[in-house]
Amino acid sequence: MGAYVVIRALDSGGPDDPQPGQFYMLSTAERWGGGADERPYLPRAFSYARARAGELSFLLEVVGPGTARLAELSPGEGLAVVGPLGIGWRPPQEGTRPVLVGGGIGTAPLVCLQDELGPEAPVLLGFRTAAHAAAATLFAWEPAVATDDGSAGRQALVTDLLREQLDIDSSATVFACGPPAMLEAVRLICTELAVPAQLALESGMACGFGACFGCVVATCDGYVRLCMDGPVLDAEELG
Ligand SMILES: Cc1cc2nc3c(=O)[nH]c(=O)nc-3n(C[C@H](O)[C@H](O)[C@H](O)COP(=O)(O)OP(=O)(O)OC[C@H]3O[C@@H](n4cnc5c(N)ncnc54)[C@H](O)[C@@H]3O)c2cc1C
Ligand code: FES
Repeated sequence: MGAYVVIRALDSGGPDDPQPGQFYMLSTAERWGGGADERPYLPRAFSYARARAGELSFLLEVVGPGTARLAELSPGEGLAVVGPLGIGWRPPQEGTRPVLVGGGIGTAPLVCLQDELGPEAPVLLGFRTAAHAAAATLFAWEPAVATDDGSAGRQALVTDLLREQLDIDSSATVFACGPPAMLEAVRLICTELAVPAQLALESGMACGFGACFGCVVATCDGYVRLCMDGPVLDAEELG
């Protein structure tokens, strides 16, 4: 899938109703670290992109050893899948239209969210290049695309697309996932326009189920464990 990798995992025994925005902890059954002088890696967190008929799809960006190993899985190799975990997106505020905003690999959980909300919800995506923008083809209904270099879609930031969309119709609830700088820009725009927003955040997750406190983030009400209270938080909780 261009600059990213799609992996599909059979999860016939798992719950068949994960909620968009929830995530899974993944690790390979073999060669998951633990080579000579190495410890095994911890499982890594991934939002699911789609869940259908006992099969889960994930979209990965290779950034280190765990994602590199997952990306080289061959058909039939074992994969440990723990989930669904966390709290995903809640319904849009009554009387508002959902608007989905994704940046880079943060596009992944918006695929299943669009499946659920249908074609009426605009989807706005921002990528570095056309190779990354290939992820837009995963969507059932065509999203609007911006790239940093103009090699696909418009040369713009996804937050430019969001501002234009909210200028047309600000009775919206924004659902966003992407890098921290993009999410902060989305939060500021939505605060300025008094538009409710739900943001899917990331933090380093060692366990994924509340035990290690490795994933805490600061909110207006104190620290929360993102794996238990998130990964989706209301923008107004963040500042
Ligand atoms: C709830 C959640 C959902 C996610 N969904 C996806 C997804 O759908 N697709 C996807 O490709 N990735 C996703 N990620 C990120 C993914 O978990 C990390 O990229 C992965 O753990 C990196 O493992 P690694 O061994 O390849 O690299 P590492 O060696 O662990 O890290 C490589 C680099 O990435 C940084 N890094 C690692 N994990 C994180 C993190 N969580 N936040 C910020 N920086 C980090 C490290 O500091 C380092 O610079 C998600 C993370 C969370 C918490
Ligand atoms: S990842 Fe361990 S408490 Fe959240």
